Amino acid sequence: MNYLHLIDLNDFPVKFWNELLELGIDIYHNPEKYAHACDGKIMATLFYEPSTRTQMSFQTAMLRLGGSLIGFDNPSTSSVAKGESLSDTTQIVSGYADVLVIRHPQPGAAKAAALTADCPVINAGDGGHLHPTQTLTDLLTLRLEKGTLENLNIGLCGDLKNGRTVHSLVKAMSCYKGNHFTFISTSELKMPQYIKDILSVHGASFKEVESLEEAIGELDVLYMTRIQRERFKSDEEYFAQKDTYVLDTAKLSLSKPDLKVLHPLPRVDEITTDVDKNEKAVYFKQAKYGMYIRMALIMTLLSNENRSIPLLSGKEYPGVCCSNELCITNSESYLPKSFVGIGDNVECEFCNERTLL
Ligand code: CP
Repeated sequence: MNYLHLIDLNDFPVKFWNELLELGIDIYHNPEKYAHACDGKIMATLFYEPSTRTQMSFQTAMLRLGGSLIGFDNPSTSSVAKGESLSDTTQIVSGYADVLVIRHPQPGAAKAAALTADCPVINAGDGGHLHPTQTLTDLLTLRLEKGTLENLNIGLCGDLKNGRTVHSLVKAMSCYKGNHFTFISTSELKMPQYIKDILSVHGASFKEVESLEEAIGELDVLYMTRIQRERFKSDEEYFAQKDTYVLDTAKLSLSKPDLKVLHPLPRVDEITTDVDKNEKAVYFKQAKYGMYIRMALIMTLLSNENRSIPLLSGKEYPGVCCSNELCITNSESYLPKSFVGIGDNVECEFCNERTLL
């Protein structure tokens, strides 16, 4: 059976995102109207990686809709520890639940799960690749806090290489008109080329800078990120980047009066706690808005059981593997090594990494 999965927000038209946002806003204002929207439904949360916000906001979203929960938040207490494949786990759990939410450390894992799931699958973060429900959270935050998703100068600061939240957000905001992006990072942690290519295709402008102090005065939105220690090959490389960008009240004073500061959280030390009291800081509200948009998403996927999007449309090339060693296709050997594109530079359909044939 086909299901409507949320693997990558860009699999859907902007109209779909806007409908989700409208529903999320209505749920935010009138939560009691939706208290029985998912009565009798069960959501499974399969978290192969640590999480506070995503996991608990999905769980509370389902509980506030009248549904129930199963799942694990530590694969070592499940049969994953005995070597069960992602495919088998997904197939089994989707037989118990009506919707499956998965977080996994490897890029492409959510799409791999959707290939065998017998229910809708939601990507709750797949390695350094994508985090579409964080993006929906960010879009709802911008709608509620800035009043628009258009004509904004959006600064993104920190680990732009490994931060899946910034990749998803930039892809999404480039679909709304008039947005300009300011990428603030060290040369080692720059935005990946494939994201910049997407901006070019959408005609969205961007610039890359290294100084937060110099950029902050021009911004309407500042999206701070954590340096993703878990994605570094060595502690030495991590400590060379740590503390490069720290937002404090002195830097915040250089910003426009209506700047809004977002952060997907968790924070380590890239925003000092004295900033929390400033009305420009909306990251704690942002985490709460995530629950409302996840309620809207669960309702929408469960009420669209006859709609689907194609998961794979490319082809395999004999002997060719994805060049991203972390890609799920390189560890779950039964998966098709499927690529799209023309010429000798093709894109993995699971993790979007380019591979030379
Ligand atoms: N923003 C986010 O994904 O937070 P968690 O890792 O706590 O879920």
